[in-house]
Amino acid sequence: MVQEFARQNVPVRALVRNPDKARKLHRLPRVEVVEGDMLRPETLTAALRGVERVLLISSERERMPETQCTFIDAAKAAGVPHIVKYSSRESGVGFDIDSFTRTREHRDIERHLEASGLAWTHLRPSQFMEVYLPGTLTGVDPRRRELRIPIGDSRLSPVAIEDVAKVAVALMTSDGHEGRAYDMTGPEALTMKEVVERISEATGTAFRHVELSPEDKLRESAEAGIPEPTIRILRELFAERRRRPESHVLLDTHRTFGVRPTSFAEFARRHAEAFLADAAPTSAPGGREAPWDAHGNRWW
Ligand SMILES: NC(=O)c1ccc[n+]([C@@H]2O[C@H](COP(=O)([O-])OP(=O)(O)OC[C@H]3O[C@@H](n4cnc5c(N)ncnc54)[C@H](OP(=O)(O)O)[C@@H]3O)[C@@H](O)[C@H]2O)c1
Repeated sequence: MVQEFARQNVPVRALVRNPDKARKLHRLPRVEVVEGDMLRPETLTAALRGVERVLLISSERERMPETQCTFIDAAKAAGVPHIVKYSSRESGVGFDIDSFTRTREHRDIERHLEASGLAWTHLRPSQFMEVYLPGTLTGVDPRRRELRIPIGDSRLSPVAIEDVAKVAVALMTSDGHEGRAYDMTGPEALTMKEVVERISEATGTAFRHVELSPEDKLRESAEAGIPEPTIRILRELFAERRRRPESHVLLDTHRTFGVRPTSFAEFARRHAEAFLADAAPTSAPGGREAPWDAHGNRWW
């Protein structure tokens, strides 16, 4: 996200909790890096000073509602006029927001922001295309050349993070978005079989979709060391996605901001090498670093 601001030469201040992890941000042009913890308002004074608009993002695995609501309150106290909430939407027709912890949490944070009295805007991307890269819980296994996802023939409409970042920069640099919600998906509703077809074509290597049972997938994940809270959320997600075979394609936001929708085939070609790279987890002592952190996985 910060990279997109730098690419467009738009000055931005990035709040980071861990300066070591954020070292690469220092090398980007026009990026000011400020240290702070969204859960500790007393650390946010420098980060919030003089800020006109905030793009609110934090990890979904770490006390997201408490983190973001604490931050909203701190921003209000510091006199920030407008917050753009980086939220989430499911592309399934009739998806029940309450049935899935993450969508419920985003909805609750949106409500907290709306009730705060600040100007607000919600940016709601669907599943990211990046979740299919190796090294994520729902990504391909490059050693087996398999995508092991238990959602049957359901279709999803993943969006490229790059498209979302372009819209986010536009929301932060243009006016007239107060009180509006922008939902966005990718340009196609794809089955997992169609996803692997595109990955196979882009990499010149045959991948296949393996429809294992949800319980087998969850057992595999637990054996690979995924913590129980993450397993619980995956269980909810698979159950809800298996119930919803149809998926919306929503491109109004792309059109509004003049962003060309990245197709999955294009995304797969751009990341062909990454799809073949063996980033699969290893629990071997002294083995490579696990692709997820202590809280679970980066992406769904
Ligand atoms: N995955 C998807 O398909 C998808 C789709 C739509 C929307 N989303 C949403 O996108 C958002 C970002 O997800 P992600 O997986 O990219 O997040 P992430 O990489 O896990 O976390 C984003 C950043 O939040 C920072 N952070 C967390 N707690 C903080 C705190 N207390 N103070 C300061 N910084 C803090 C993290 O800092 P550290 O580097 O120090 O850990 C990290 O740099 C989530 O809200 C998610 O629900 C995801």
